[in-house]
Formats: sequence, structure tokens, C-alpha cells
Amino acid sequence: MKKQFIIANWKSHKTIHEAKLWFEEMSLHLHELGDFKEKDIIVCPPFPILHVGLDSIKKHSLPLLLGAQDISPFPEGSYTGAVSGKLLREFVTHTIIGHSESRRYLHQTEEELAKKVAMALSFGIMPIYCVSNKEEKIPQGVKIVAYEPLEAIGSGKPEEPQETESIAHSIKEKNSVSYILYGGSVTAENVQNYTQLPSVDGVLVGGESLNAQPFTSIIQNA
Ligand code: PGA
Repeated sequence: MKKQFIIANWKSHKTIHEAKLWFEEMSLHLHELGDFKEKDIIVCPPFPILHVGLDSIKKHSLPLLLGAQDISPFPEGSYTGAVSGKLLREFVTHTIIGHSESRRYLHQTEEELAKKVAMALSFGIMPIYCVSNKEEKIPQGVKIVAYEPLEAIGSGKPEEPQETESIAHSIKEKNSVSYILYGGSVTAENVQNYTQLPSVDGVLVGGESLNAQPFTSIIQNA
């Protein structure tokens, strides 16, 4: 069975209390699920509740990894509002970089994203680099790419799997990336349409990762 990544992107959702409940519920579901060694499940909460993730994973011995949703392009220092790789590595193994919402609302540029990738790599944090089409430049050193067509994000209208396969294939051909994930309106019902594609190695899940039950079904069906 090929390796797969299932990423939960919580975006700007959840309080401390809600995050604790999610992990508690997941601990019940995951213990029922049994073995899924070939799947890396990476949960990406907002920065201020990463500690809840860390504590809950330890407390319940959960087979989950933690990711961030962003990383500072700067080192530790006088950069008010930024969260450095030096701090993040105490919490996470991965970080999302260049999500279309960060590009759009936080005005992150390609040049800045390349610096974020370099910073993540220098702290041993694996970037999950998001692109929304096959032409986008992918910085050096990126091994995991999440392909998320803009119209599919949060719309309930996932891309046709045939189209996804063709784009994922072409991204892999043009760049030396190891894994391509699909993101955009992934559900427990449609996840397998993507994970069974030869060029797709997992999914990035937004809305359907916010509740433990549907997210568990996604892991199960992937
Ligand atoms: P969605 O979001 O699953 O809610 O469409 C995916 C994403 O933006 O990462």
C-alpha cells in the first residue's frame, strides 16, 4: 500500500475547549479504527492552540502528528506578530505554506513563500506547499505539495478526479516533489476518488476535519 498523508486544516477555527474535545473524541474513534501505519495524519490547528494538540496527543497516545498553518520567513528576533521556526519546531513536524487564503488575505508573495520554505527546512519542519494550478512555482526543497483548485475550496464542488490526476501528474513531472495531495471539498464520501489516483498521495481537508466523526471516516475511507 502506498504512503498517504491526510491533513486536517482547521484554518481560523476552534477555542482551547473545542480543540480539547476534538482530540478526546478522536482518541475514542482512532482506537476503534485499528492499524493505519501507512497513513500520516497531520492536524494543523491555529498557533495559540498548538499546545492543546501537543498535550492531547501525549495524554491519549494518539497516532497523530501536528502541523502549523504558517511559519515566519524570518529567524527569531524583532519581528512582531511573526512565529519563528525555532519556536514552531517544539510543537510541529510539518507546516502548511502558501495556502491560497494566506496568499489572498495576508498578501503573501511567492518570494516570501520561498523564504518560509527555506526557514522551515532549516528547522527540520517539513513544508506542505499549496498551489492552485500546475504553473505555480514550487520552491527548492519542497517534498509535499497540496494542489487545491480555488473553485473547489469550501464550495462543496470538488474537482473532477480525472482533471486532478492530470494536474498532479504534470506537477510531479515538472518538479522534484515526492508527494502530491488534493484539497478542496474533500468528504468521507469522495475521498477515495482522489486517494486511489496514481499521482495523488493524500488529501488536505478543511471543513470536514473540524468534527472528529467525519474526519475519522475520511481516514478510514482514504
Ligand atoms: P475545504 O478546504 O476542505 O473546506 O474545501 C480545504 C482547504 O482549504 O485546505
